[in-house]
Amino acid sequence: MNFPDYRPRRLRKNENFRRMIRETKLSVDDLVYPLFVVPGKDRKKPINAMPGNFQMSIDHLVKEVQKTKELGIPAVLLFGIPDKKDELASGAFTRDGIIQQAVRRIKDKVPDILVITDVCLCEYTSHGHCGMIEKGDVDNDTTLEVLSETAVSHAKAGADMVAPSAMMDGQVAAIREGLDEAGYENTPIMAYSAKYASCFYGPFREAAESAPQFGDRKTYQMDPANGDEAIREIQLDVAEGADIIMVKPALPYLDIIRRAREEFDLPIAAYNVSGEFAMIRAAAQLGWLDGERAMMEALTSIKRAGADIILTYFAQDAARILGK
Ligand code: PBG
Repeated sequence: MNFPDYRPRRLRKNENFRRMIRETKLSVDDLVYPLFVVPGKDRKKPINAMPGNFQMSIDHLVKEVQKTKELGIPAVLLFGIPDKKDELASGAFTRDGIIQQAVRRIKDKVPDILVITDVCLCEYTSHGHCGMIEKGDVDNDTTLEVLSETAVSHAKAGADMVAPSAMMDGQVAAIREGLDEAGYENTPIMAYSAKYASCFYGPFREAAESAPQFGDRKTYQMDPANGDEAIREIQLDVAEGADIIMVKPALPYLDIIRRAREEFDLPIAAYNVSGEFAMIRAAAQLGWLDGERAMMEALTSIKRAGADIILTYFAQDAARILGK
């Protein structure tokens, strides 16, 4: 079909035509809302580079989860910031850790929403790395045991799904084995499979107080220049028992989401990370962009690339628009 027989503009004439032929439909069902929980009571501290997001104590967190549920969003993703950090990340897996308490309380007060927990150690280690340090670098295999124990402690607290994000080799297998041995064979794993060493996590590190105290994460997170390697990473996680695979960040890696869509038939999640959120919010605050349209366009592009699930700080705002 060529011009002038084919005129694509015919079907763009008005919104009814456009609605009829729209290929990608963003839905509230696709969204997951990330939240940050801190110890204490009546604490709600704004996160500087993530306007509208807060570090919250459990009392405020529960209200926020309730609001999220009322907006029709099916799931929240929890990050914990402990009272004390140490070399061993003890706060990550103790029964009374911040995440374990938060999950129990949410399950009690707001039962009908999925609670997903991020399984990583960077918020809990004094050095801010995602695992145990040996000889100046993160040691893979000792970290696996700690990640597995952490995931099991989350499941025990009532988490509906665990999401390992430490980028250790073999982490999905170690967690699957730990969960199965503890009787949680029905708890799914959403694996941060292709997670890049990205500067777009900047605002998050302030939110989670998890910036590495020395070095960077390049020995475990992926090189932004690599695409084929993402496919190998995902393959490993699928073989190790991941139920959902994730690409992170989302917008600078839409090609990776698309490739994952074409090569794997598991549900695909994409993490629209803190820096992607901050860019749009900042430009909107300056009056340089229409923030609402930029948000919807960005989220739609992530879905169009092939994501089934979008983890995003925009979840509540997008749900309000989608629900209209
Ligand atoms: C933990 C973790 C990070 C993010 C999610 N889980 C930070 C990091 O790897 O440094 C980033 C999320 C965001 O930027 O929104 N490892």
